[in-house]
Amino acid sequence: MVQQTKLIEWRDEFSIGLPEVDRDHRELIASINQFHAALGRGIDAGQVGGVLGGIQSDIAAHFALEEKNMTARGYDQFAAHKLDHERLLDDILDIIDEVHACGRYEPDALATRLSEWFATHFRTHDARLHHWLHSGD
Ligand SMILES: [Fe+2]
Ligand SMILES: [Fe+2]
Repeated sequence: MVQQTKLIEWRDEFSIGLPEVDRDHRELIASINQFHAALGRGIDAGQVGGVLGGIQSDIAAHFALEEKNMTARGYDQFAAHKLDHERLLDDILDIIDEVHACGRYEPDALATRLSEWFATHFRTHDARLHHWLHSGD
């Protein structure tokens, strides 16, 4: 099977219009693509867990920073935003478990699942949050 080089392509609709936030979001997508590329090179299931665990901690760090900013500034939609972060982290942990259990994953299904999450989260929660934080500067 021929692997796509990138699991998720950056799309204009991911952009929320604030360069520093878009840069962080591009890095998250790049790290997911590295995971996919590593699998294309045929790393074993043990390494997959390690790579995906690293990505999960990059994503968790980005979320933690947003959550810290929300708490510090008294953001009015903190709970809903945090809940959506937790939903993705749970999804990624499920994916790690699946890879461990059966030694493989479905690239197309993963791409669709993650792309949809990013597109929706960036467009809704993150766009609102970052413009809200920015407007108070
Ligand atoms: Fe977020
Ligand atoms: Fe974000």
